[in-house]
Parts: sequence; C-alpha cells; structure tokens
Amino acid sequence: MKQLTVLLLLTGAILLGSATIKPNTGNGQYKNLRVLPRNITSKELLGIMTDDIDDGLGVSCGFCHAAAADGHGLDFASDAKPEKKIARGMMRMTLTMNKKYFKVRHPLLGAPNLILSCATCHNGQALPVMEQ
Ligand code: HEC
Ligand code: HEC
Repeated sequence: MKQLTVLLLLTGAILLGSATIKPNTGNGQYKNLRVLPRNITSKELLGIMTDDIDDGLGVSCGFCHAAAADGHGLDFASDAKPEKKIARGMMRMTLTMNKKYFKVRHPLLGAPNLILSCATCHNGQALPVMEQ
C-alpha cells in the first residue's frame, strides 16, 4: 500500500512536471488570427506569408495588408483590405479541400503534407489564369 502511494505521488509529480514544460510555441503576439493557430510562432507565420502566400500568388505583403494609420509600414492586424478577407476564405477552403477530398488528417497551412496549396491553383498569379 505504501509502495502504491509512493508510485502515485511520483506519477503525479511527473505529470505535473510535464504539464509545465511548454512546447516551443509563440506567445500569442498576433491580434487577429482566425484561421491560423493563435499560438503560431513568428517563424511559422512569416514562412506561410512569404513562401506559401507571396510566392504562391506572385504578390507582396501590401496586396492584402492595409497601410498603417501613421503612414509607416503596414498594419498587419487590420482587415481593411478586401483581399485579406478573400485570402482568409481561401485559407479555409484550402484546408477543407485537403481534409475532405485528399484525406490529409491534420491539414495546416505551410505543412509539407498538404496536397493542395495556394500555388497549386494560383501558380504565381493573384488571379489564377485558366488555359483554354
Ligand atoms: C494574399 C493575402 C496576404 C498576403 C500577400 C500576405 N498576408 Fe499576412 N495575412 C493574411 C491573412 C488572411 C491573415 C490572417 C490569417 C488568419 O486570420 O488566421 C494574415 C495575417 C498576418 C499577420 C498577423 C497579424 C495579426 O496580428 O493578426 C502578419 C504579421 C502578417 N500577415 C504578415 C505578412 C507579411 C510580412 C507578408 C508579406 C511577406 C504578408 N503577411 C502577406 C493574408 C496575406
Ligand atoms: C482550388 C483552387 C484555389 C486554391 C487552392 C486557392 N485559390 Fe485563391 N483563387 C482561386 C480562384 C479561381 C480565384 C479567382 C476567383 C475569381 O475570379 O473571382 C482566386 C482568387 C484569390 C484572391 C483574389 C485575387 C484578386 O486579385 O481579387 C486571393 C487574395 C486568393 N485567391 C488567395 C488565395 C490564398 C492565400 C490561397 C492559399 C491559402 C488560395 N487563394 C488558394 C482559386 C484557388
């Protein structure tokens, strides 16, 4: 019985210990994420914005992100530009298609297991060009 108590205490201590070890996630520095995970790291987020989105569509950040009110740089959290809202819908669509039609289990933008990405359709164009 005493041994069991010791064992339970030990297990509890291990569980408590592991619960306090946080995985390497961001600190929630982004203000307006509705599709991407809220705890995404800046490295992951910027990788998606640059490699998947900018390169996939052949545009730069200001295509979707509005200018900051003070005129310096871009206000990334703002939803003022319609292109950003369209892009959010496209992100949701891309994730749904991967899951529903290509059976990707946990689709995440930027992940190597995605079968369909922005570039699959956009191929470097903001408006996909349909070859007739
Ligand atoms: C085609 C549109 C598009 C382009 C181009 C784009 N983004 Fe984004 N960006 C988005 C969308 C949509 C979100 C919001 C995602 C969400 O809701 O989860 C976002 C979110 C962000 C955020 C988080 C802002 C916050 O606080 O919520 C940052 C930072 C950001 N983008 C940086 C960039 C940078 C830097 C570039 C250029 C390298 C870029 N983006 C290019 C569409 C775009
Ligand atoms: C299944 C194909 C497909 C995928 C995948 C896709 N798109 Fe699109 N996207 C389109 C089509 C088609 C249009 C043009 C719609 C139209 O003509 O109104 C479009 C239009 C857009 C526009 C509007 C462009 C403009 O100039 O008005 C944005 C922004 C956009 N997509 C972003 C994205 C982003 C970001 C991703 C990846 C997260 C993505 N799309 C993935 C097919 C796709």
